[in-house]
Amino acid sequence: MKLARRLQAIKPSATLALNARAKALAASGKDVVVLAAGEPDFDTPEFVKQAAIEALRTGFTKYTATAGTPELREAICRKLEKDNGLKYAPEQVVVTAGGKQSLYNCFQALLDEGDEVIVFAPYWVSYPDMVHLAGGTPVIVPTREEDGYAPDPAAIQKALTPRTRALVLNSPANPTGAVYSRATLEAIADAVRGHDCLLVTDDMYEKLLYTGQPFLNIGNVAPDLLPRLLVSNGLSKSHAMTGWRLGYAAGPRALISGMQLVQDQSTSNASSITQKAALAALTGPTDTITSMVNEYRERRDLFVAGLNAIPGIRCRLPEGAFYAMADVRALLGKTYKGRPLADSLQLSEALLNDFLVAAVPGDPFGAPGYIRMSFVTSREVLQKGLTRLRDFVAALG
Ligand SMILES: Cc1ncc(COP(=O)(O)O)c(C=O)c1O
Repeated sequence: MKLARRLQAIKPSATLALNARAKALAASGKDVVVLAAGEPDFDTPEFVKQAAIEALRTGFTKYTATAGTPELREAICRKLEKDNGLKYAPEQVVVTAGGKQSLYNCFQALLDEGDEVIVFAPYWVSYPDMVHLAGGTPVIVPTREEDGYAPDPAAIQKALTPRTRALVLNSPANPTGAVYSRATLEAIADAVRGHDCLLVTDDMYEKLLYTGQPFLNIGNVAPDLLPRLLVSNGLSKSHAMTGWRLGYAAGPRALISGMQLVQDQSTSNASSITQKAALAALTGPTDTITSMVNEYRERRDLFVAGLNAIPGIRCRLPEGAFYAMADVRALLGKTYKGRPLADSLQLSEALLNDFLVAAVPGDPFGAPGYIRMSFVTSREVLQKGLTRLRDFVAALG
């Protein structure tokens, strides 16, 4: 069957594909160490589940307004003001089925054919494809590990053209775990100030910060840019709610109305039950987040130290999120069972097939020569993963 032309530029999500293979191996009885997941291994907090149960009991099971219930939109405004110092009216907020839908709808509402969106590499795999799906062109601006993945302002200025409609910021970042400093955010603001484009900040990992410093959105350091800022966030990572599908976006009224229109004619509202759970999550206690972050920090320290102790693997300490991006370039060109490992895709395949460790190759994130491993699994499993990685490296010729 002939499918739409716009699908030709779209790649299936590499992380989902690798996870599916790892799960299939596990289902066949293999003891797979899965370091590919992008979701917390913790359960959703009990009080959040109770709110959903209450929603079911009281029959809160019907359509809501497309943009979300008034009470949830208000709670999101209070959250944005209290946690982020960003003031929005409820009409400037749209509730979506996950952070992914916020970003997708933003690009659908914003872009015309050939419009450009600046994305920093390494990037979350979905940004370029979402831009393609909206008919836009992602413009990839590389960043360097030695700069802490902070973008070079000169490179941003070079990438800006009359067709640039948006620039995507993601800090803490997937896949690098990098967190932008105040100085970096100021430098980005300076670079874009003279150019009328939207700033899309994907704050999905806002709560997963290990620096001891408060989270910063670019709107905090450059309030003059607030009229052209879209904040995207959600509960998937902060409240271990990946399956519930709850995201939200706040921004300029015209853009939010456009996003709402896209949603009106596609999915309508996020699940009514999930919205009740989200209201509880955003207004309830935060101790579960604190204990989750403390545990992630311990795991990060253990795992990254273990990776750096393996010859040929080098890993920068991530300041946020729950991913370790390891540089495996020293291993490329070596052979495994007589076959050369040309790139991180081949390396990940050998690692999964023969050593039962699922790690995502960096190539689909715009980071060739790297592999991404998440530390959202127990310390025992992380330790087992490290032992197998060491055995794998020792088996290379
Ligand atoms: C950087 C980033 N943004 C957004 C999302 C989407 O999250 P959600 O599951 O809420 O759609 C993810 C999920 O992995 C992510 O890593």
